[in-house]
Formats: sequence, structure tokens, C-alpha cells
Amino acid sequence: MSDLQDRDRRHSWHPYTRHGVETSLLGVVGAEGNRLKLDDGREVIDGISSWWATLHGHGHPALVEAMTRQAQELDHVLFAGCTHEPAVRLAEELTKEAPEGLTRAFFSDDGSTAIEVGLKMVLQSWVQRDEPERRVFIALEGGYHGDTFGAMSVGDPEPFFVAFQPLLFEVRRVGPDLDAFTAALEELGERCAGFILEPLIQGAAGMKMHSVEFLRGAREALSARGLPLIADEVMTGFGRTGELFATRKAGVSPDVLCLAKGLTGGMLPLAATLATEELFNCFLSEDKSGALFHGHTFTAHPIGCAVALASLELNRAEDTPAKLDAIGARIEAALLDELGGEVGLVHDLRRTGGVVAFESKSSETGYFSLDTLALREEALAHGVLLRPLGETVYALPPACTNEEDCLRIAKAMAALARLGRVS
Ligand SMILES: Cc1ncc(COP(=O)(O)O)c(C=O)c1O
Repeated sequence: MSDLQDRDRRHSWHPYTRHGVETSLLGVVGAEGNRLKLDDGREVIDGISSWWATLHGHGHPALVEAMTRQAQELDHVLFAGCTHEPAVRLAEELTKEAPEGLTRAFFSDDGSTAIEVGLKMVLQSWVQRDEPERRVFIALEGGYHGDTFGAMSVGDPEPFFVAFQPLLFEVRRVGPDLDAFTAALEELGERCAGFILEPLIQGAAGMKMHSVEFLRGAREALSARGLPLIADEVMTGFGRTGELFATRKAGVSPDVLCLAKGLTGGMLPLAATLATEELFNCFLSEDKSGALFHGHTFTAHPIGCAVALASLELNRAEDTPAKLDAIGARIEAALLDELGGEVGLVHDLRRTGGVVAFESKSSETGYFSLDTLALREEALAHGVLLRPLGETVYALPPACTNEEDCLRIAKAMAALARLGRVS
């Protein structure tokens, strides 16, 4: 155990970590491009973009430059009663790039808070439209929207939030099936507040992918009833699906769009909840209680906004969504080559843009399968950081990943498929 790991063990508490079991944390001392440098001298490929965030690569010079410049000019100022150029420009750029109709940007800190803001916008807007009984959201089975209470409520309590279930608000859950969805709309009637989903890819559910047709059909059914669609693009945003946004790929305009992770190219915590003018207008009353009562100390942090602008610029200059799509295609093809006659080892191989996933058949099933630790170790032995979700093995590396590294990622994934057979 290195000195860093030893000191960590005494006072740190890590997210989503079973400290009694997971004792070998990676000591990371540096990062560049798609490489993480470890304290034992090894370098590993970041095959999951550091929890689906790193977009162009770690330490991208354009982003570091934007951060440094902004820190020297204006480090932080409250965003209630004040405004500043980086936030105003970022709101302009995001509303330009987003699907049609999203004209307002509300900033916060991370994916979970972007979701909280979206839910509160919709719920408060119903109160202010004199339809306070509209309180129940429809959400997808297996959905994951973050770890704060509203986000946990719309997420599937299984497998993460069972301990909190009695405290979570009512939600109607359906599979990605139009008949089930319209049945839920009918059943809820005037109690329905809207629909929230991760469009096209449900990340934490195990990179489950649904059709563009479902998303379009759901949008139509909601529009027919005057109900809002909240698109959680915290993971799918900024090119992961091969388009800047999954909703844009499907040609669908949500009423609320939640963004985080890749917003700053994965460098700093910043989130945005985009909304329509119609929603915004629900908050224009002169009554003091009509404001959206949500705000964080670091709302619209100038440095985060400056880095996000630099990242958007890179997206445009380098066509990051197309790069990610090509990387996903290369990994998928290389994985099939690598497996050859053993292709039967992977179940439900699937890809959307830069996200490639399959099910590895292990003896223990489900998210809490201890085999995932063995799978992680095996990937590291191949020089790649992967973090299987239960028996789902997946990769989504950053856009700087070259041909050689795609092959290494594919080899590591094939090794995990073989390990699944043995266990
Ligand atoms: C789809 C989705 N929504 C929300 C979140 C929560 O984001 P954060 O971890 O930044 O709070 C995540 C995190 O993985 C996510 O994948």
C-alpha cells in the first residue's frame, strides 16, 4: 500500500465505495489526454472518461488557458443581483446549440442539482398555473438522475436508494414502451406533472439503450396533453451519442434540458438547466413568492463558465461528437475482431455514438455482484480503467483516444468477457 493509499484509508470517505471490500484504491498523481498517471509509475487509459465527464481529454491546454485567464479576471461573484460576461455568453451559446425552444439557462453545480432545478421549475410552474395537483412525474424503470432527494425520487430506488425509499416522493415508473407510457399518462390524468428520462441511453441502469421512436412518441403524447418533457442529458450531452445532444439526434425538443459532466469538458463542476420561455414566464409574477427559490453559492461560477465556453468552442472546431462516434465504432469493431469465434461470450453488444456496452455472463448477477471488482482488476491489468456496472461492461473514452488505444480498450473489454465465462 502506498503512502497516499495509507493516508487515504484513515480519514477519507469515497462515493459509491464499499470500504470494507474495496481496499485497493488507485493513487492518481496526474492526468493528460486519456491517460491517468498512477503513484506506482503505471499509466492507464481512462476508458470511462472519469465518470463520463472528460470530453476532449484531461488537462486540455485550451481549457487550462481559459481557466487561468478567467481566474485572474473575475474568480467568483454571487449570481443573485449580479451578472457577468462568462455566464451571459454561456447562456447565449447553450440556448443556440440546444434543441429548438430552449431559451433560458439556469446554472448550478452538478448533475443532481441540474435535475433538482428542473423538477422544481416544473412543479412550481404547475402551482403558479393553478394546477397544484400535478405532482406525479413519470420516469423510466432503471432511471438514474442523481443522489439528492428529488433526483433520487425520480430515479429507480433499486439498486441504490432502497434505504431512502419511504422518504421519496411518488413517481410512476414505466419501461421504454409507448403503450405503457400512454397508459401511465391516462391513469395519472390531472395528477401528471410531466416525464423525465435519460434520452437514448440510460447510463447507470447499465448503458441500456432505447429507440429514437420511443422518445419521439413520448414527446408527441406529452405535447398533446400540454405536459413537459425533462431530458436528463447529464451523461448523453455534449457528443456522447454522436450528436451534441441525444434529443437533437432524435429531433425532439424537451421543455427542460439538464446538463453537467461534459459541460466544462469534464474539467470543473458546473451544471445548467435549460428551459422554455413558456416555463420562464410562469415565474414573472410580481408576487415575491413567485420567484424560483433555488440557488447555490457558486451558481454560474465565472471560471466554470469560461471553461465551458472554451469546451463548446473545441466541440465546434473539432467536431467532438463525430470523433466520439468514430471512437465508439472503432472499439466495437475491434472488440468483435478480438473475440472472433468467442463472440458468444458477449451478450447484447450495443453502441450509441461513443458508448459501447455488453453484458458479461457472471455467476453472481446484479449491480452488487462482487465479480465487478475482479472485472475492474482485470481491466487494469490490461492498462485500462473500466468500471463495470454489475455485469455490464462498457467503455466511453474521451475524444483524444487514438486508434492504438481503441484497440487496447477493446482487448481489455474482451478479457472481461472471457473472465465472465470463467466465473
Ligand atoms: C443521467 C445522469 N443524471 C444525473 C447524474 C448526477 O450527476 P452528478 O453525479 O454530477 O450529480 C448522473 C451521474 O452519473 C447521470 O448519469
